[in-house]
Amino acid sequence: MPSYTFSVNKNEVTVNADADTPLLWVLRDELGLVGTKFGCGVGQCGACIIHLDGNANLSCLLPVSQLQGKSITTIEGLSENGDHPLQQAWKELDVPQCGYCQAGQIMAAASFLKNNPNPSREQIRDGMNGNICRCASYNRIEKAVALAAK
Ligand code: FES
Repeated sequence: MPSYTFSVNKNEVTVNADADTPLLWVLRDELGLVGTKFGCGVGQCGACIIHLDGNANLSCLLPVSQLQGKSITTIEGLSENGDHPLQQAWKELDVPQCGYCQAGQIMAAASFLKNNPNPSREQIRDGMNGNICRCASYNRIEKAVALAAK
């Protein structure tokens, strides 16, 4: 089985896996980073979003063979102590309901805010429209992203 070396949350890891194994399963099953969630497995829900070299990416569609030398950040590595402005805003506004999609939402929002530091509400809605929430906490998510952008 081939091996691939890349960085996850600033730690170098080497994994042995079939070339087409999605990063999502490497994170969850090999590295124990279960904050990243499986929702649909086909790029439709956003629950599996991580950062690849600093930008949001769907880990369910990302084969491990494309990761050699790359840098991955998961929700576990977004901040040292859960104190990223988005995580603080999420807590302040009590955003989650069931919570399942929230890691993907926060990772998507972090990438979005990096590229759009002063977004309008409409831009936030557009920027976050790849993330589905079955509890429909969209309003609180939008408010929290706006709060974190302040
Ligand atoms: Fe990757 Fe749904 S699990 S987009």
